[in-house]
Amino acid sequence: MVYNISRTSPIIFGVGAVEQVGTKAKEHGCHKVMLVTDAGIKNAGIAAEVRKHLEAAGVGVVEYDKVPSDPPDNIIEEAAEIARREQVDGVVGVGGGSVLDAAKGVNVLLTNPPPITNYYGVFTAKNLGKVLILLPTTSGTGSEVTAISVVTNSRTQKKSGVIGPYCMATVAIVDPALTVKMPPSLTAGTGMDAFSHAAEALTSGFANPISDILAERAVELIYKYLPVAVENGADMEARINLSLASLLAGIAFNDALPHYGHAIAHTAGARFHVHHGMVCGLALPVVLEFVADVLPEKVKIIAKCMGVEVSDAMSPQEIGRKVREAIQAFTARIGMKTLKDVGIAKTDLEAIAADVLTDDCAAFGPKKITVEEARKLLSEMYA
Ligand SMILES: NC(=O)c1ccc[n+]([C@@H]2O[C@H](COP(=O)([O-])OP(=O)(O)OC[C@H]3O[C@@H](n4cnc5c(N)ncnc54)[C@H](O)[C@@H]3O)[C@@H](O)[C@H]2O)c1
Ligand SMILES: [Fe+2]
Repeated sequence: MVYNISRTSPIIFGVGAVEQVGTKAKEHGCHKVMLVTDAGIKNAGIAAEVRKHLEAAGVGVVEYDKVPSDPPDNIIEEAAEIARREQVDGVVGVGGGSVLDAAKGVNVLLTNPPPITNYYGVFTAKNLGKVLILLPTTSGTGSEVTAISVVTNSRTQKKSGVIGPYCMATVAIVDPALTVKMPPSLTAGTGMDAFSHAAEALTSGFANPISDILAERAVELIYKYLPVAVENGADMEARINLSLASLLAGIAFNDALPHYGHAIAHTAGARFHVHHGMVCGLALPVVLEFVADVLPEKVKIIAKCMGVEVSDAMSPQEIGRKVREAIQAFTARIGMKTLKDVGIAKTDLEAIAADVLTDDCAAFGPKKITVEEARKLLSEMYA
């Protein structure tokens, strides 16, 4: 077996790590940066805190706060245009995965001509960006340590990845205190995104022994701490462990690559504008049941991480069903919303089956999938 293990970004992790953003920007030679964020992060007072530390270190700040969820190409291009005009020498992203992905896109466009959609795919941009510092405020996407920026094509309403070293953070600053103000539903959804990264990495066609170790630990931590953080958002032990789990899962899936659950989440997210992690959390149980026939041992590991008993006498199908039921019980326990809750009809969901197969991630699964099988998974997600 031949596998890839990528270089990850330098990571500063811990409560209070945010204070280092200014000195890190300065160390990397920044005089003026674009601070990319969104309205929610501004309202939570997090953007102001980052700005304060940058300015205290003598780094000028141009703020761009209009990033919506599932960032589209035109927003990234608008922000990059301002950044180029202002002659910034770095980009600081503070927010959830949407903001971090937008910050990556802006950084790419500092040294490569627009449009950003020209750089869909792997190694498509010629030049490395400038300095890129990423601070996650959700414990979900792992974008702070991945080489991908997920960008919505505003013309086709399809999400694709801009992938390469130019999307890696120069420094990732992971301060679990920045996640404390997430409301319970966002904590649950983003936690299930990280859970899916880990479980899909374990069952991917590109899993490797190191990604397996990281992913296993991530599932254990999320299973233990996600209900705690949903119940009490101020529980710092839970927040620290969820930020760690999200980071571990991000490093794991950066090489192992997520598969059918993410193909579904990208397609549904771009089409219906529903939260990425929520769709991941609804897709994961049915996807694991679907792959259990080819990877029963991996699905058993996921069961073990959740404390679910699976005996050697069980068939792969029985293992798959047991894990599906356990994850569905878990998402119900953490109060995660369902597709019905967010107003998506079953027929509308089933109608995206063909598009799911054209998503980049559909190629990374451990077995082939047909349109009929994708439609069946979508239908089961609704149950
Ligand atoms: N690049 C990657 O490796 C990668 C991996 C997985 C997902 N993604 C992408 O990430 C996006 C989803 O990101 P997300 O789930 O982090 O959500 P998000 O960034 O879309 O944010 C959702 C909402 O939560 C708010 N929010 C974020 N942090 C908060 C906090 N601490 N307190 C209060 N409110 C807060 C935001 O303001 C926003 O309104 C999707 O576009 C998905 O495709 C990227
Ligand atoms: Fe994800």
